[in-house]
Amino acid sequence: MASSMFQRVPSTMKAWLYEEYGSPEKVLQLKSDVPVPEVGDDQALIKVEAAAINPVDFKRMLGFFRNTDSPPPAVPGYDVAGVVVKVGSQVEKFKVGDEVYGVINEKGIESPHKIGTLAEYTAAEERVLALKPKNLKFVEAASLPLAIETAHEGLERAGLTSGQSILILGGAGGVGSLAIQACSFSSEFLLQT
Ligand SMILES: NC(=O)c1ccc[n+]([C@@H]2O[C@H](COP(=O)([O-])OP(=O)(O)OC[C@H]3O[C@@H](n4cnc5c(N)ncnc54)[C@H](OP(=O)(O)O)[C@@H]3O)[C@@H](O)[C@H]2O)c1
Repeated sequence: MASSMFQRVPSTMKAWLYEEYGSPEKVLQLKSDVPVPEVGDDQALIKVEAAAINPVDFKRMLGFFRNTDSPPPAVPGYDVAGVVVKVGSQVEKFKVGDEVYGVINEKGIESPHKIGTLAEYTAAEERVLALKPKNLKFVEAASLPLAIETAHEGLERAGLTSGQSILILGGAGGVGSLAIQACSFSSEFLLQT
């Protein structure tokens, strides 16, 4: 059984939604009657304070991943920061009222959540969430998860060793700017962008 905040969680909410694949200006609509997602036993329901979008949202909306996607209707958005308003029976790390952030789809293009983060509420497994650092605003926290995960994974895969140089292309973009910052914390790498 899920425990919820004293504040009532509505049954429907506002959300950006597309009912068929296509370009955002053609298919994306703001709806006010989207069902608030049910929480699974291992999930938290989050009142969304901030969300971010990434290239994967755009590509998904265009239907690039239709073979593995959860098909429309769908609410886009992978990144979220917000407040936990309900938790499933198996959730141990979080409680109602916690400020959290994360990327809600563990595997980006395999069955992503139909209700993403461009909504008033979204549900996510506790393993993909973390407590929001107190020194980050919600919008700052929401801007990080997927892009920083990508930057980190890229740097790991590159297998750099001390003294090597690194050239980061697209350094002004979401992933590139975070890769630059990650390298800046280490004295091992020389940066060239
Ligand atoms: N964001 C994620 O979490 C994520 C996850 C997995 C994979 N990816 C992939 O990683 C790539 C970057 O994602 P992002 O979120 O960082 O995108 P982004 O914020 O849109 O940044 C893209 C960067 O690439 C530069 N760029 C675009 N076209 C270029 C070209 N022809 N030559 C040189 N530079 C070019 C852009 O420069 P201008 O600003 O000057 O246009 C910008 O700095 C994308 O292919 C995306 O699909 C991203």
